[in-house]
Amino acid sequence: MAIERTFSIIKPDAVRRNLIGKILTKFEDAGLRPIALKKIHMTRARAEGFYGVHKDRPFFGELVEQMIASPVVVQVLEGEGAILKNRDVMGATNPANAAEGTIRKEFALSIGENSVHGSDAPETAAREIKFFFNDDELVG
Ligand code: CMP
Repeated sequence: MAIERTFSIIKPDAVRRNLIGKILTKFEDAGLRPIALKKIHMTRARAEGFYGVHKDRPFFGELVEQMIASPVVVQVLEGEGAILKNRDVMGATNPANAAEGTIRKEFALSIGENSVHGSDAPETAAREIKFFFNDDELVG
């Protein structure tokens, strides 16, 4: 399988509960390497831009409020089949449906406060990485 890069956010609910290290360990144990990583506090405009694809969904307003409530960690993960692997490690969007051992099963509070975001496809990964990182910040 090819080496890929994917985009990941450790969301406010997890950062607030001091879970950055525990969540990074899950990624690293699965063979995903953080090649770029920073802690930021998203502005409303940035969160609305990032989640623009969901702007007509009923949960959009609440999602944006949750994402700007406090800092997040944005990162690029690299590894074999990283896009799918990241989604496996995260578990289902709704923690009620997440498998044992996944980040969301272990840490998520609700579908909105579900601790992590991850790109769902190669095109999304490329767009989301560019949204937060310059090329010279990706230091493999
Ligand atoms: P994420 O992977 O960050 O992508 C969009 C987010 O919207 C999702 O995780 C959830 O946290 C949030 N969300 C809230 N309600 C829903 C819903 N009903 N369906 C999908 N996503 C939802």
